[in-house]
Amino acid sequence: MKTKQAIVLGIESSCDDTSAAVLCGNKILANVVASQDVHVLYGGVVPELASRSHQENIVPVVQAALKKSKIDASSIDAIAFTQGPGLMGSLVVGVSFAKALALALDIPLIPVHHMKAHILAHFIEDAQNSAPEFPFLCLTVSGGHTQIVQVNSAHEMTILGKTIDDAAGEAFDKAAKMLGLPYPGGPLIDQHAKNGNPLAHTFSKPKIAGLDFSFSGLKTSILYYLRDQKIKDQDFIEKNLADLCASIQYTIVSILISKLKQASKDTGIKHIAIAGGVSANSELRQALLTWADKDAVKVYIPKFEYCTDNAAMIAITGKFLFEEGKTIKGSATISADPRLAWK
Ligand code: KG4
Ligand code: ZN
Repeated sequence: MKTKQAIVLGIESSCDDTSAAVLCGNKILANVVASQDVHVLYGGVVPELASRSHQENIVPVVQAALKKSKIDASSIDAIAFTQGPGLMGSLVVGVSFAKALALALDIPLIPVHHMKAHILAHFIEDAQNSAPEFPFLCLTVSGGHTQIVQVNSAHEMTILGKTIDDAAGEAFDKAAKMLGLPYPGGPLIDQHAKNGNPLAHTFSKPKIAGLDFSFSGLKTSILYYLRDQKIKDQDFIEKNLADLCASIQYTIVSILISKLKQASKDTGIKHIAIAGGVSANSELRQALLTWADKDAVKVYIPKFEYCTDNAAMIAITGKFLFEEGKTIKGSATISADPRLAWK
């Protein structure tokens, strides 16, 4: 007899995307994401506005996910939600909604760590051709985090290196802002870079020991370079936008790849994955494929929709925890944790 596969509703609201997903087994039946355009005006996420938008979006987004999946709320086995890390005002909306719905449906809750969820997105059935083999290394690169994680199982993950200052996504977004591009600038740098020369401009690379990263020096290097060039030519940025984007992207990707190669050498692990918003970057994806061809490493690159923030990754992580019985029933005291620890 075939056992019934668990149906998990995932809810994500850690930053500026409100998302709900319905998962059955390892298969995503719906993954609805409402992004917030309101922040473009301010050049970055405004926490107060993010929180308000989540409040407006959460009910319609969950309703849309249920409708698309053709799953009735009464069939859901558990609700997984992002407990942290993230912005307090944003997290609170998702957590409160998840608690209320779990109470109404009388089903368990599963608190999820946002960064672990980025990694476990690889196990969604249609995330890529095949799921990574354990142990693998995952470069997790987002707007708030940059980490190299050794993943021994869905439940055992060790951080081998992390940024000591800015995250890679932050480096992309801050560089984009200096070039006059709107927020979030990472995808725009990626687009402009396609028409540029990555070796046209040179920026300083950090010299940080071990597997940790640093991006604040690069930010300063770009700032001073643009300031000096604009003294000579006011229109320097406009005239050189594609080359500047290509050179900045090349520098960030080189920093990421060199540490990842070091981690692979140190651990002997040849299964390499990427996760998080910056893993949508085309140069990073290409650099990984080139490395795979040359050094016989196996790389795992998820579909774009599972790279940036989404609730599908929360649902699949919830499923792994559900199988282990790591659920909470009668959830009156569970709360959002903006600095949720990596345990
Ligand atoms: O994981 P994510 O959606 O949200 C956080 O948890 O932070 O990551 C967002 C980050 C932003 O910094 C955005 O600029 C960056 O991912 N990003 C990219 C690309 N797409 C998104 N950076 C470079 N190239 C891209 N194609
Ligand atoms: Zn994220």
